[in-house]
Amino acid sequence: MPKAWMAGFAITAGASLLAGCSPKNLSYGKDVEPILSRNCSECHAPGKPGFLANGLDTTSYAALMKGGKFGPLVKPGDAFTSALNMLVEGRANPSIRMPHGKDKLPDKEIEILKIWVNEGAKNN
Ligand code: HEC
Repeated sequence: MPKAWMAGFAITAGASLLAGCSPKNLSYGKDVEPILSRNCSECHAPGKPGFLANGLDTTSYAALMKGGKFGPLVKPGDAFTSALNMLVEGRANPSIRMPHGKDKLPDKEIEILKIWVNEGAKNN
């Protein structure tokens, strides 16, 4: 049954390709900070609308980890319950998806934020 064999091969090859593409050992400075500064910091910096509404400042690691008026946004090691990931993935109430009033982030950037948090949200 050559066809069944080929289907099995295609699935295995696809899965290992995906695993191979998933980034690892992500860095706050190199991978995460550029995403936040491009997509969040225009509003979440002192004096800007997102900061005034919520107190969240995404312009530095320390400020990001401090969070906003509802507390920390990032739970190191746990992207599933981190508000940062819930918001950019659209898992929170859609009316508060971030970036506010703009298109969703590209999947790749959502993935980077998720892996970085799951790897411990380090300041590296
Ligand atoms: C165009 C401006 C703008 C951008 C860009 C933006 N935000 Fe916001 N953000 C706001 C405003 C305004 C609020 C407060 C009003 C609200 O909650 O809808 C807010 C609220 C928040 C909150 C609090 C949500 C809550 O529980 O009420 C978080 C967390 C947040 N933003 C994270 C982010 C992140 C992370 C990004 C980048 C991916 C981002 N924001 C991009 C304007 C922005």
